[in-house]
Amino acid sequence: MPRTPTTIDSAWLRRFRTVLRRWHVGNGRALPWRNCRDPYKVWISEIMLQQTTVAAVKPYFERFLKRFPTVAALAAADEADVVRLWEGLGYYSRARNLRKAAQAIVANGGEFPATVDELLELPGIGRYTAGAIVSFAFDRAAPIVEANTLRLYSRLLGLRDDPRSTSGQRVLWSFAEKLVPTKSPGEFNQALMDLGATLCTPTDPRCDECPVASCCRALAEQAQADIPAAKRRPEITETHEAYVAIESAGRYLIYRRPEGQRWAGLWDFPRFELPTNVSGERQLLERRIATDFGPRVTLTERLTQLKHSVTRFRITLDCWLAETNGDCELTTPHPTAWVTPSEFARYPFSTTGRQLAETLQHELREPNLFRAVGQNP
Ligand code: ADE
Repeated sequence: MPRTPTTIDSAWLRRFRTVLRRWHVGNGRALPWRNCRDPYKVWISEIMLQQTTVAAVKPYFERFLKRFPTVAALAAADEADVVRLWEGLGYYSRARNLRKAAQAIVANGGEFPATVDELLELPGIGRYTAGAIVSFAFDRAAPIVEANTLRLYSRLLGLRDDPRSTSGQRVLWSFAEKLVPTKSPGEFNQALMDLGATLCTPTDPRCDECPVASCCRALAEQAQADIPAAKRRPEITETHEAYVAIESAGRYLIYRRPEGQRWAGLWDFPRFELPTNVSGERQLLERRIATDFGPRVTLTERLTQLKHSVTRFRITLDCWLAETNGDCELTTPHPTAWVTPSEFARYPFSTTGRQLAETLQHELREPNLFRAVGQNP
């Protein structure tokens, strides 16, 4: 079991809460989802903020609420429209779960659940999001632990063990439960997050400006740089993949990526992993298209090469153009469409799928651009 070296008695709690609240009056962050007691808006913002920065979320939040202003509007939306609005934000299951949860709320009478236990029943809502909705929107005491508060609590407690481990999480949630007051818990939880985000930062925390410095075990031990214990970084793996934009009568083949794969539910061009040091890439891809998708094709040119990263994979992605040899019969089990470049905008694409779609649109407007810069092998 990890040690919890700080004794949290009632005097400590009183001092901590008073000083934190006082600090927050002039130092809280002004964010578009703040000062809002609408649980729908709080929910949307919290789902968007999972694994995503405040700066990235802001424009998405405003666009999403304009398009789906209520839980009923979201419940009635087409999945593709919801995912299309999410495009670029990543972790697309969040968008699909939002819509499913909205449908569950509407099916249950339309009233937004106001307790942690009810919220936990909904897809995509975990303990943190439930606590945030209950405290921010309903102003009821509920603990929160997310990235900023995880760091703050770990330092306050001087927690040396991994705060993401089961035992570390138990310590932090139990601490969060003790911290949260019954009076204005929503504002208090926001103050905790703001302190974590603005002063108790991952590197170079500004301890000399911190209102609760005297409550901090890590500072007393000069261990701020070592707490929280760093996540083990997975080793980066270089991989090689290929897209093939198959053209037939001015239309390109796209398909919807299945559940259980990266970017499930998004549309994409046929995409393949390649063995390392592949020779005969063209022939290999022509065969894979025939077996995985059906059409017999000839790869005509390599349009471009993209580089991107997904989790621990650094991917080099060749983008090929292909034409069909007459036989376009599709054998893939996935939903497919043959679309013109002007129709690409209607479909939610993976980030690299969108890049290739834009390259194709550009190529149509300015043919030979790629050939001119000599990117073909
Ligand atoms: N990170 C997660 N939730 C947040 C919120 N409501 N405000 C700012 N950052 C956050």
